[in-house]
Amino acid sequence: MPSTLAIILVSLGAVAAKDIYVSPTGTGTGTLAAPYGSIQSAVNAAVAGDTIYLRGGTYRPSANIQFSKSGTRTSPSSVRPYQSEKVIIDGENMPGTPKAVGESLPNSERGIFHIQNANYWAFYKLELINGPYGIYARDASHNYYDGLSTHDNYETGFQLEGASSNNTVANLDSYRNRDPARTARAPTASPAKKAPARATSCATPASGTTATATASSSASPITPANHVVRNCIAFQNYKKGFIDNGNPGALAMERNTAWKNGDTGYVMRSSSSTLKNNIGSNNVNGQATLVSTVKASGNSWNLGVTWTDSLFKSTDSSTLKGARGSDGRVVPSDFLVPASGQAIGATTRQKL
Ligand SMILES: *[C@@H]1O[C@H](CO)[C@@H](O)[C@H](O)[C@H]1NC(C)=O
Repeated sequence: MPSTLAIILVSLGAVAAKDIYVSPTGTGTGTLAAPYGSIQSAVNAAVAGDTIYLRGGTYRPSANIQFSKSGTRTSPSSVRPYQSEKVIIDGENMPGTPKAVGESLPNSERGIFHIQNANYWAFYKLELINGPYGIYARDASHNYYDGLSTHDNYETGFQLEGASSNNTVANLDSYRNRDPARTARAPTASPAKKAPARATSCATPASGTTATATASSSASPITPANHVVRNCIAFQNYKKGFIDNGNPGALAMERNTAWKNGDTGYVMRSSSSTLKNNIGSNNVNGQATLVSTVKASGNSWNLGVTWTDSLFKSTDSSTLKGARGSDGRVVPSDFLVPASGQAIGATTRQKL
């Protein structure tokens, strides 16, 4: 005889995560039928595990959006477009766009999204433009950034600094960001602004370690941060390709390519980083400037070759600059792939 089958339902007392909606034309209370008009209102209303859905269109808030609360490991919070709608957040109306030459931007004003002491958030597929930095994350860990586009911002497009760890940055497009307060370059449509600066087509490691991909331009962080930067391309930036920017930690940089940047390809001035199998090519002020604590092997400059354009299959970036595939990845092309087939430098042809 079968014994009594007991089914025990254990209630963990968990409150179901909620969905919160925002629309550029919203005037409501955060429901799908009556969305908020302000992204900040949604962030204020969110608790761990909630999803903030942004309806399509262009948001033009006059103050930046502050993230200062956290999700949890098992209930991360997220911000994403509703279905396949296209979301642009334009920071032009925010303070500091731009600051006067030589004037610095107060910490809290940095970033269209200012993410500080905010952990376990996920951000998907948002376009952040004309802001006082695009994403500015500081002392922010366990966050996930996928499919973002940060371009034409004043200061850095995507900045991650401070005591931050275990962040993942995947499929980031960051380009035409510039620092007018420092360089006195015109902030609006000028030839300087148009200087091509598509920063990256990074495939970040699945392990969840951080890849940063910006040639960052702001104050030096002093907390060591050991990022992994793999399969990233930094090309035709106004200044440097990749820089540790005062980070005293240890970056692991593998299979990246710095090409035709206006300054040096790789600048490691403060870290104990390890650089392996990277290519530096045609960077105006040299391929790599590394302090003695850096270990470098198998990189183009270690191989005794001057990596000229003829060593690449192609130097045509048009496919990379085109729309991404439906999977969020850049469309594969021969751009900067070594003609020899050598396992060196970045490639859009495969995940590394
Ligand atoms: C790293 O962050 C992810 C979220 O992006 C989280 O799921 C994971 O548990 C974190 N790992 C560690 C070791 O904290």
